[in-house]
Amino acid sequence: MKKINDFIFVCNNCGNEFSKWSGQCGFCKEWNSLKEAPNYKSTISKQFPKNKLQNTQIKNLAKMGGQIQGSAHTDGGVFSTQISEFDRVLGKGIVRGSVVLFAGEPGIGKSTLLTQLVGKNGGHANGQAGLYVAGEESAEQINLRVRRLGLSAERFDVLETNSVEEIGQILERTNNVYKIVVVDSIQTMLVESTASGTGSLGSFGSVNQIRESTFRLVELAKKTGVAIFIVGHVTKEGDIAGPKLLEHMVDTVLYFEGEKNGDLRILRVSKNRFGPTDEVGVFKMEEKGLRCINSEEINLISGKGESKIGSAITIVMEGTRPMMVEIQALVTESFAPMPTRVFSGIDTNRGRLLVAVAQKVLAMPLYKYDVYVSVTGGIRLDDTGIDIAVMAAMYSSYKNAPLFIREVPKNKSTISKNSGPVLIGEVSLLGEVKKVRGFEKREKEAKAMGRSVAIINSIRELKNLI
Ligand SMILES: Nc1ncnc2c1ncn2[C@@H]1O[C@H](COP(=O)(O)OP(=O)(O)O)[C@@H](O)[C@H]1O
Ligand SMILES: [Mg+2]
Repeated sequence: MKKINDFIFVCNNCGNEFSKWSGQCGFCKEWNSLKEAPNYKSTISKQFPKNKLQNTQIKNLAKMGGQIQGSAHTDGGVFSTQISEFDRVLGKGIVRGSVVLFAGEPGIGKSTLLTQLVGKNGGHANGQAGLYVAGEESAEQINLRVRRLGLSAERFDVLETNSVEEIGQILERTNNVYKIVVVDSIQTMLVESTASGTGSLGSFGSVNQIRESTFRLVELAKKTGVAIFIVGHVTKEGDIAGPKLLEHMVDTVLYFEGEKNGDLRILRVSKNRFGPTDEVGVFKMEEKGLRCINSEEINLISGKGESKIGSAITIVMEGTRPMMVEIQALVTESFAPMPTRVFSGIDTNRGRLLVAVAQKVLAMPLYKYDVYVSVTGGIRLDDTGIDIAVMAAMYSSYKNAPLFIREVPKNKSTISKNSGPVLIGEVSLLGEVKKVRGFEKREKEAKAMGRSVAIINSIRELKNLI
């Protein structure tokens, strides 16, 4: 039989595994990202001796019914988060015994939303409760947050620990008391039995400990039927081993995103074994925590009132929902040798490309202008359907005139102006405007908001809107 190596090398950046070390990851091409880690395949074969096989049984599904093992629940193994936007993202709700990775940048609101999740699902009275495992903060800090958020402290259990074994012991001892466990965060968890005496392999946040801890938590969830939410910090610099490492080990992967200076937050699902991956949840960060907001409210945040200089309205698709957003641009003469380009809420490379197209096709001399573009409300958009609105906002700022659609009233010869048009479309390198996914749905939303969509085929036609 082929011998399985005891150690493998795991890329810190993408999570791929290799049998040999090399300076560059063969998959994502990141340099110096391979770190040594134990091979689970080999530990599993050691943990389960051959004679264990005699007890293994084949299970017929018809005899198992529709319920998850270890629990006598009537909800078919799925229950609501009690937070509408959270349920929308997960599909139906939380699946018992599943493991959800909840990833996001530090300070974005992961602990806040998951505190709300535990708080709303707590309560021993109904026989089930939520447990918050605090690896980063003290119970006092969690207590203060629970009270600030107006959640019931009576129904909130906190376990201060960094030990995955301890979580396991508690869950086994309190059999069936908890239905949700939040582990905040995976970067502060250790499997003590593998941590001692292994040097750098055993420290908090190391590739090895993150993988080992997750592996144990997944086993625990399956064994006890408790749903486990694992918090994972993501940093742009990639200086800590990130959630990418464990994406393949868990059932569901959620990313919580937003612009730090704004208060809108978007919950996206990038992997889901139990539901679709095309829905997003939208929240607003307030004093009382994260509040679910619906598309009507987002529409109100954007595009109120009349058309302004440097502003353009567009409709984006967030999951399957169309939402109206306002793009603002400021184009001002530059006095620096290198003009400034600041894009917030849109991809920087996309922004630079649009500046280049504007310069070439619209003959805007942007090489001597500073360009700032932002999405109001502080959401991050990853939808090329907003291109033409970004272009229009820059054009409007450059021309120092608001955008409007000319309408010729039937019985009058004068031309009247109305409120700003909605612009939807992807801009090509040649300045053509292309139709995007969900155009009809977006157009319908614009009409529902009492606005007209300006149909243009080339960015050259923007001059008709000034
Ligand atoms: N006392 C407070 N009042 C209002 N908002 C607060 C308060 N404390 C923290 N916040 C908000 O919560 C955010 C931190 O959220 P948190 O859930 O701790 O983030 P994460 O767990 O993702 O690092 C802060 O950026 C701030 O916006
Ligand atoms: Mg936190």
